[in-house]
Amino acid sequence: METIKIAIVGYGNVGKGVHAAINNNPDMELTSIITRNPERTKKDFLGEQAFGINPPVKCIYHMDDADKWKNTADVAILCSGSKNDLFEPDSEKHDSYQIMVPIEIGKKVLEKFGQGPYFAQYFNTVDSFDTHARIPDYFRVMNAYAVRSDHTAITDAGWDPGIFSIERIMADAFLPESKKYTFWGKGVSQGHSDAIRQLNYVQDAIQYTVPLEDAVKQVRNGENPHLSTKDKHWRDCYVVLKKGSDCPEIRKEVELEIQGMPNYFTDYKTKVNFVSQEEMNERKKSMPHAGSVMTSGTTNYGKDAKKAFIEYNCKWDSNPEATGSILVACARACYKFNKSKKFGAYTMADLSPADYSAHSQDKLLKEFM
Ligand SMILES: NC(=O)c1ccc[n+]([C@@H]2O[C@H](COP(=O)([O-])OP(=O)(O)OC[C@H]3O[C@@H](n4cnc5c(N)ncnc54)[C@H](OP(=O)(O)O)[C@@H]3O)[C@@H](O)[C@H]2O)c1
Repeated sequence: METIKIAIVGYGNVGKGVHAAINNNPDMELTSIITRNPERTKKDFLGEQAFGINPPVKCIYHMDDADKWKNTADVAILCSGSKNDLFEPDSEKHDSYQIMVPIEIGKKVLEKFGQGPYFAQYFNTVDSFDTHARIPDYFRVMNAYAVRSDHTAITDAGWDPGIFSIERIMADAFLPESKKYTFWGKGVSQGHSDAIRQLNYVQDAIQYTVPLEDAVKQVRNGENPHLSTKDKHWRDCYVVLKKGSDCPEIRKEVELEIQGMPNYFTDYKTKVNFVSQEEMNERKKSMPHAGSVMTSGTTNYGKDAKKAFIEYNCKWDSNPEATGSILVACARACYKFNKSKKFGAYTMADLSPADYSAHSQDKLLKEFM
């Protein structure tokens, strides 16, 4: 069978989840890992966390030389952090990216824009960039670099953004003027955990997103409540401080810094717990997540209105492996798009369900319609 050759960029939780998903999809082949830290990755790759030993360890490359490895894969799946790695960390630049013309090229792109646009120069890419407020900026920059190099970039993929975005868009199209609700958890948010790990004094962190049950009940009952961000979820954070930093003053400083982090925590009730690395290791053994997109509306108008409710629900034992599985299906779509010369950036909402599938149209028509 002809395989789609995949490079994993960044071998963290999602990187390992992508590795597991490649093992689960016979039409996919892992051909290289590209990382900022080949030594750590080699150890991880060969250690108990690795799911297999293909490709050979010599195919673990340093990110600085991405241009050298561009022929190692049909698609690079970018698994680095959204907050600081994929796109430059700046929250208020919408206007300056309205018309984006790529002026910088090569390594300078890594410094100026981050790993996403840097890799779009050399590979077809799939990423799970999830800083929702920055998605329009990121999309424009990725589009500019992908178009310039005849590449295809599937951006903001995963389950949210990703599958949940598609569900929100479709439910809105089916039930215009409806009320839309998204609930996450209880589960581990990798983006939020990653954001906490970037802070000074923090050695390790995990963040659970917890839905408020009363709010979920009201929505399912069709009460169409008005819910602010704070009314839907709260955030439960567990933090290990670096050696020598654990004292009441630093605990307070870290707690306030987390609670004041824009785009991540400012809009929620956020509890910060300080724990030992041993407790953290126990917690990190499983990274479950779950969520629902609910849309409540009507199929007619005024006195003829009839209630309609759509719910899409996911439950994952492993958030990174779930995300990895979705990213691998996106890599298949990315490969097909690039083969048919559809260059530039796309989101999961721009693809058709058949683009993700390994099955022929004939099989889809017979067995899935
Ligand atoms: N859209 C979605 O639905 C969705 C779902 C889940 C996650 N995500 C996104 O995925 C991103 C990555 O999440 P993650 O949980 O994989 O983060 P992570 O484990 O912290 O990995 C982030 C990067 O850190 C490096 N890394 C790996 N192991 C490390 C270690 N032991 N110490 C220090 N650095 C290490 C890796 O890059 P190098 O190999 O280059 O060092 C890795 O790519 C999140 O920021 C989030 O935005 C999106």
